Amino acid sequence: MDTVVLSLGGSILVREEDNARYIQALAEMLINVSSAIRVFVVTGGGRIARYYIREGRALGASEDFLDEMGIEATRLNARLLIAALGDHANRIPPKNYEDAVLAAERSKLVVMGGVAPGITTDAVSSILADRVGAVRLVNATVVDGVYTADPEKEPSATRIDRMTHEELLDLVGADSHRAGPNMVFDAAGASILARAKIPLMVVDGRDLENLRSAIVGKPFVGTAVS
Ligand SMILES: Nc1ncnc2c1ncn2[C@@H]1O[C@H](COP(=O)(O)OP(=O)(O)OP(=O)(O)O)[C@@H](O)[C@H]1O
Ligand SMILES: [Mg+2]
Repeated sequence: MDTVVLSLGGSILVREEDNARYIQALAEMLINVSSAIRVFVVTGGGRIARYYIREGRALGASEDFLDEMGIEATRLNARLLIAALGDHANRIPPKNYEDAVLAAERSKLVVMGGVAPGITTDAVSSILADRVGAVRLVNATVVDGVYTADPEKEPSATRIDRMTHEELLDLVGADSHRAGPNMVFDAAGASILARAKIPLMVVDGRDLENLRSAIVGKPFVGTAVS
């Protein structure tokens, strides 16, 4: 049975409007897919994490402490998805890769958040993909692929349908010195995937049919990095 890691942006899990309906539909899709594919989901922090990091920083907390708060937020987001998955997933988000692998012995779907300060959930999902021998990593986010530049700032940016890991690294690495929190996939994660030669699919997570195609390895709309 193939293994796939899904990096689920906090941007997808934490939204204002009636999100329970979306999360329920996402959970049903994942349960359905898990009969043929072992899926590990790593949830991001989104607005919840950014709130704690911003306010904590204003209160003078160290970067390490802020990261710890951010990680708690990613685990809270993991619990929201777990709430929808019920018995199909682990109950408590594993706190490290070993526990994630152990959890996979009991359930076909494993959901976790961050692991350690200084490591984004993009990097966590990349390390996990390497560790579990995933055939691909799917990054579900609020943008429908990797663009030539941030499409929110650069309206003329165009989507790149296929690219190599090196091209992705050039794109995200070039930006990393002014490390915005809003990066389609981080440089550390991209370099882990490049080294391990694990393909990355970047898709808009709001389109569940398309997300499903990316997870199962069918043609999809988005960016394929390999
Ligand atoms: N080259 C690029 N191509 C596509 N999107 C980009 C690019 N550069 C920056 N972005 C921005 O990245 C954003 C997505 O990343 P963001 O970190 O906000 O969400 P996420 O990773 O899904 O969730 P989170 O980090 O909150 O868990 C998009 O809204 C887009 O504006
Ligand atoms: Mg992000």
